[in-house]
This record gives sequence, structure tokens and C-alpha cells, in this order.
Amino acid sequence: MINFLVIGDVIGRPGRNILTEGLSILRSQKKIDILLVNGENVAGGFGITRKTYSYLVDKLGVDVITLGNHWHDKPEVDELTSLEDSRLVVPYNAKGIKEGVSAGVGYRIFTTRQGLQYVVMNVLGKVFMNPETRSPFESVELMLQDPVVQKVAIKLLDVHAEATSEKQGMGFYFASRCSIIYGTHSHVPTSDERILEDHAGFITDIGMTGGYDSVIGMKKSRAIERMLSGTHNKLEPSKKDGWLCALYCSVEEDGRCSKIERIQMRLSNLQ
Ligand SMILES: [Fe+2]
Ligand SMILES: [Fe+2]
Repeated sequence: MINFLVIGDVIGRPGRNILTEGLSILRSQKKIDILLVNGENVAGGFGITRKTYSYLVDKLGVDVITLGNHWHDKPEVDELTSLEDSRLVVPYNAKGIKEGVSAGVGYRIFTTRQGLQYVVMNVLGKVFMNPETRSPFESVELMLQDPVVQKVAIKLLDVHAEATSEKQGMGFYFASRCSIIYGTHSHVPTSDERILEDHAGFITDIGMTGGYDSVIGMKKSRAIERMLSGTHNKLEPSKKDGWLCALYCSVEEDGRCSKIERIQMRLSNLQ
């Protein structure tokens, strides 16, 4: 059995600080074998840098980092995906995947300290996002047909999508073939965690880890001003009302999720 702790979108420095504080509490309460984070907003809210990658992996011990539509906001991500022991998984159907970035596109296979293999897949939704994106259903189907993926029983899928309907459709469609299917991107947690088809742990969206006194993680005054004026003034991560949102799942060796728990912690240290 593997116990996975999955963290949704981490928003900038306040998100990293909340994660650091929250993890020290969670690690004293729960047995966490593998830690996953969605890192598409970890660098100032936009993308991932060498420094923030190292903070997650080297300081916090994150095992796998999935990304999303902001995957390439910081071009140094190309270098990070090609590291020999890279933990990054880029969405299979991300727009503008650079030539040369092939490792870690769509999925990557990892091994636990006990020698158990698991695969982590990442895909973007299409509804209310870029209509030119390749279908997430078709994308995941192609990954699952890969003989290398087929050999691994434990499969996790980050569905980085805007529409709740699309995420639930993906959940039911792939439930018998995945161990955990979790939504990210909306930055708001849903409370519908459950096990689908007696096989896959599922939640429509884990929610962000960041300042909730905000509009989806960004200082609310600036975000509202943008909506009122239609201008693109700079957004900045909120430092108020920190929450850590996560999903804690146990997965058996045959790939079935046997336990699912949603975690929401309110924390203070955002500076
Ligand atoms: Fe995000
Ligand atoms: Fe996103």
C-alpha cells in the first residue's frame, strides 16, 4: 500500500510558506509515503523556476510536481524537465511544448523506497480553456495504451481543468483504470471526495494552497480592478488567510484506492 498526499496549486511565496508549515504538522500526524504538488503557480503565481523547484524537492521533499496551463511561464522549466532525476510532469496536451522537451511530457514513472512503481499523468482540460487543446479524453487514452504505462498498476491522474463537468466526466470515464483522479486549476476546493467504481479516489478540485483573502490566490483589489477596468495590471499573490488544501489517499498494490480523505488546514505563516 502507498499513502499519497496530493497538494493542489501552490500560489507563490505565501503558498510555499503555508505548505512548509502545514507539512510539518501533517507529517507528525500521518504516514505520507509520496508527496505530490501542482507547481504551475509556485513562482510568484506564474510557472516554476530553478529556485522554487529546488525549494519543493530539496527542502520539502516533494516527490512529484505536476503542472498546468502556466507550465511554461518561466522558460527555465525546459532545463528542469530534462534533469536526469526530474520530478516534473508536463501536461500531455500542453500548448507549445518545446522541441527537445520530451521527457516528462504527459507522464513519468517513479518508484517508492519499498520498490513499488507508480505512474503520474497530467492533462489539461478543454472546456472554458483553450479550444484548440487536444481532447483530454483522447490524451489520457493514448497514455494508457503505452505498454510502459500498462505495466504499472498504480496510476495517478492530475486533470488540470476549469469545468467541473469535464473533470467529473474524466473521473467516471477513467475510474476503473486509474488509482487517483484529481482536479486542479480552479483554485477552489470542492467537497465531493469519494471512490468511483470501487477503484479510483476522486475529487473535482483539491483547491489551492495560498492566501484565500483573494480572487483565486491573487490580491483581491488588483483582481477586481482588472475586472472593472478591463486592463491587465500586475497581479500579486495574497498573503492573507492561508489555507493548505490536500487529498490523502491510500492505494493498494493492485491499483485500487482503499481510502480517501480531504484535508483543509487554516494556517497563519504567510510572510
Ligand atoms: Fe493554477
Ligand atoms: Fe491552471
